[in-house]
Amino acid sequence: MTAVIQIKGLYKTYQKHFWMPRQTVLKGLNLEVEAGQIFGFLGPNGAGKTTTIKTLMGIIRPSAGRALLFGKDPWDIEPKQRIGFLPESPYFYDYLTGLEFLVFCGRLFNISSVVLKSRIQELLALVNLSYAADLQMRKYSKGMLQRIGLAQALINDPQLVVLDEPLTGLDPLGRKEFKDIILNLKARGKTVFFSSHILPDAEMVCDAVAIINKGKLLQVGNLADLLNARIKAIELNCRNIPEETAGKMKSRSLSSNTINGQWQFNLKAEADISGAIDLVKAAGGDIISVIPQKESLEEYFSREVAGDA
Ligand SMILES: Nc1ncnc2c1ncn2[C@@H]1O[C@H](COP(=O)(O)OP(=O)(O)OP(=O)(O)O)[C@@H](O)[C@H]1O
Ligand SMILES: [Mg+2]
Repeated sequence: MTAVIQIKGLYKTYQKHFWMPRQTVLKGLNLEVEAGQIFGFLGPNGAGKTTTIKTLMGIIRPSAGRALLFGKDPWDIEPKQRIGFLPESPYFYDYLTGLEFLVFCGRLFNISSVVLKSRIQELLALVNLSYAADLQMRKYSKGMLQRIGLAQALINDPQLVVLDEPLTGLDPLGRKEFKDIILNLKARGKTVFFSSHILPDAEMVCDAVAIINKGKLLQVGNLADLLNARIKAIELNCRNIPEETAGKMKSRSLSSNTINGQWQFNLKAEADISGAIDLVKAAGGDIISVIPQKESLEEYFSREVAGDA
C-alpha cells in the first residue's frame, strides 16, 4: 500500500538577500507516513518543520527531491481534496463569524448546503465552539481561534489531517480536548501528521515520530520502539524482606530506596529481573511491582538534539 505521505530526498534552499549566500534549510529529508497513523513531527525552532509542511501542502516548491501525498504531487487538485490543513499562526477574517467562516471553507470544497449545515454543527460541537458560532472571529481568544482552525481543517472530512503546531495557545484542558479529537480521528481511520514542541502531549498520542534538527532527520520510528530501546532501569518494588536479602539485592541494583518497610531496587537490565524476583521470593518477600523506567520523549528528544549540536 502506498504511504499517505512520502518525502524523498527533500532539499530546500533560501537566499534571504541577493548578496547573501544561499542557506540550505532542508538537507535531503526522507520520510514515510502510513495510513491510520498519528505521526509527530518534532524539532526545535528553525529545524525546518514548517518548511517541510509547506512543501507537503503544495505551498512552496522543493529545491530538489519531492514530497508526495497519496502517491501524488501535492500541487494536483485531487490529493488536496483529501487533506485538511491547519497552518502555523493562521490568519482569520476578523469580521466573519465562526459559522460564516466554516460555510466559506466548506463552499471551497463544493460541499452541498445540506451536508455542510450538519457537518458544521458537528464540527462546532467537536471543538466546543457551538456557543460562539455567531460571534465575529475578532472577538475570539487565541484558543478559540485554534479550535475554529481545527474545525476548518476537518470541513471536508479529510483522510489526512496536517497540523502545524496545533497545541500552541491552548490551555491544559484545551490540549486534552485536542488530543481526544486527534485520537478520535485515528479511531475513524484517518491519518494525522502534526508538528509540536509540546513533547509530553506528543508522547501521549503519537504512534510514530520523526525528530528533525537543522534540516536533517535525526530519528524516525515507532514511538514505543524508540523509547523502549532506551530503558534506563527496571524498578522492582517489594516488601517483607530480611536485611540480608536487601543487602544482596542492593549489590545487584544501580540504586535502591526504602520507605516504611517497602523497598525499591533499580535493576540494570531486563536480564536481572527473574534472578531478583527469585531472591525476594526465596526469602519470603512479596513482589509489589516491576516497572521499566523508560526515557520520556522529552529526555529522548533533548539528548538527540544536544548530541547533534
Ligand atoms: N521564506 C523564507 N526565506 C528565508 N528563510 C526562510 C524562509 N522560511 C523559512 N526560512 C528559514 O528556514 C529555517 C527553517 O524554518 P521553519 O519555519 O521551517 O522552522 P520550524 O522548524 O517550523 O521552526 P519553529 O518551531 O520556530 O516554527 C529557518 O532558519 C528559517 O529562517
Ligand atoms: Mg514552524
